[in-house]
Amino acid sequence: MDRQAHWEHIYETKGPDDVSWFEPVATRSLSLIERVAADRDTAIIDVGAGASTLVDGLVSDGYHRITVLDISSSALERARHRLGDRATAVVWCNADILSADLPAAEFGVWHDRAAFHFLTTDAERARYVAQLRRTLRPQGHAIVATFAEDGPTRCSGLDVVRYSPRALQRELGNDFRLVASSHEMHQTPWGAEQAFTYCVLKYEPGATEGVR
Ligand SMILES: C[S@@+](CC[C@H](N)C(=O)[O-])C[C@H]1O[C@@H](n2cnc3c(N)ncnc32)[C@H](O)[C@@H]1O
Repeated sequence: MDRQAHWEHIYETKGPDDVSWFEPVATRSLSLIERVAADRDTAIIDVGAGASTLVDGLVSDGYHRITVLDISSSALERARHRLGDRATAVVWCNADILSADLPAAEFGVWHDRAAFHFLTTDAERARYVAQLRRTLRPQGHAIVATFAEDGPTRCSGLDVVRYSPRALQRELGNDFRLVASSHEMHQTPWGAEQAFTYCVLKYEPGATEGVR
């Protein structure tokens, strides 16, 4: 099954809280975004957003330049339906992030919780980083959450790559400076624990050292 069909099948057959990554409120992501983007005019993209409630929180917080991208149209439809009238304020993008047609130097914040870690080949990760570098504004921030080194090795039937903050920074390259990281023990809806690493990286093209 290809990537798109896999995720479409997941969202067509599982309810909102039948998936391990469900969180009723995206508390940590919201607070990290507020920390790096106090200005509500900041353009924000949630990459591999699925049906996440992060967009609900961003709209409530007054952000009005939000793009929600996912490879699954069913996931986006679920979030769009949940938001009702408020969905019209959001740009919905059904695409693979590796090939999505996005504007250059557009976003002040690139958020990704649990999508990057599914990229298991160097070639895929290189395409992801190229997309990130092309679409994030210089001095903008990437907030990327993956399974941590003590997290699961698989999710949703797929292999994942687990990262420490330093390893994630290395993967994105020296133009990204690690400004904050945290370890979170996520509780799945059925009470299991999954260790996540959250990283905040500032895009400083031309920098020579990723950690200062
Ligand atoms: C584990 S879920 C996390 C969803 C959401 N970020 C959250 O935290 O609730 C991973 C999501 O990434 C999406 N995804 C996986 N690979 C993708 C790709 N190459 N491009 C865009 N979306 C992708 C899946 O459809 C799925 O919604």
